[in-house]
Amino acid sequence: MDQKHFIPDPYEFSLPEGSVQWRSPSNIALVKYWGKKGHQIPANPSISFTLDACATTTTLGFERLDVPTKDFLVEVLLDGKLKESFKPKILQFFQRIESYVPFLKQYQFTIGTHNSFPHSSGIASSASGMSALALCLIEMESQMVEVSEEQFKQKASFIARLGSGSACRSIEGGLVVWGANDAIEGSSDLFGVQFPYEVHPAFQRFHDTILLVDKGEKQVSSTVGHGLMHGHPFAEQRFQQAHQNMGRLKAAISEGNLDEFIKIVESEALTLHAMMMSSHPYFILMKPNTLSIINKVWKFREETGLHLCFTLDAGANAHLLYPENEATEVYEFIKDELVAFCQNGHYICDRVGTGAKQLTMNR
Ligand code: DP6
Repeated sequence: MDQKHFIPDPYEFSLPEGSVQWRSPSNIALVKYWGKKGHQIPANPSISFTLDACATTTTLGFERLDVPTKDFLVEVLLDGKLKESFKPKILQFFQRIESYVPFLKQYQFTIGTHNSFPHSSGIASSASGMSALALCLIEMESQMVEVSEEQFKQKASFIARLGSGSACRSIEGGLVVWGANDAIEGSSDLFGVQFPYEVHPAFQRFHDTILLVDKGEKQVSSTVGHGLMHGHPFAEQRFQQAHQNMGRLKAAISEGNLDEFIKIVESEALTLHAMMMSSHPYFILMKPNTLSIINKVWKFREETGLHLCFTLDAGANAHLLYPENEATEVYEFIKDELVAFCQNGHYICDRVGTGAKQLTMNR
């Protein structure tokens, strides 16, 4: 399947005006996407848990124009307030998707967004935000042309990817794979697919407690970050390793092998940071408290034999992953010993969720 597959046939119906609303969650990668091959094509495959509590709700208002405009007409609001600073990213997104969503210049849009987590939490809202907006647009499209549920999800993921790579993993629930690889049948560079194998009960209700170590602005934007893999001395080995880790993780998840899962997930997080530390320019995105958390997690695991592990994104916050049947003990430990390392004691309790949901459609 190539990108042209996502250019729609001429629309059968037209929508005069209305609004559509979707809630889309964030996700946490287990095998990390880090590096691009071109137009939002990942340099390596990745897999993530879809989250539940951390989500963006987007309402897209639309009004059909008598004459199509030359430029996109869009207003962006965050929690009801105009947010001019979000506009360039949305306009860039519209430009990237225009050939696949050809009605964009026939409408005037109002995009209202609300994040369930504070804007200044250091949690990236691009995965949930871009996937929510993609879903609203594809929902509109699905009113103009007949599509199956599978086509709908695939296209929403395809469009979300063009806004932010990791956003394509936020449409479906559970475990989602993005990036063509031999281990996962049906995997694609163009969109995310739900993990198509048995998920052992040990992994079905996983928890992710996000420790907010540093709520500041990102030090390295994702565009710059991915760019660091171009000409990186270890790039090829890293991309190969991600392919191998997909196969290893697939087996661990199907067999319920928590120890193997922990080894892969923590190694992926540290490798992501090692890539940043060994690029030009180089960055250290962990903070002293991130390291303290990691050491405490390791000690806790050694002492209790429980299956708590950490992962990191491109920042200082730590995501603590653990199974449902160990949640009581682990949560006690987090509260007693780890909250002290969080900025203002802030953390978010999340868990694996069921994917994006449509809230309303008015037309
Ligand atoms: C470290 O999806 O934010 O979180 O495609 O440029 O928007 P863009 O990048 P983005 O990168 C996420 C990188 C990561 C790892 C991951 O989520 O897989």
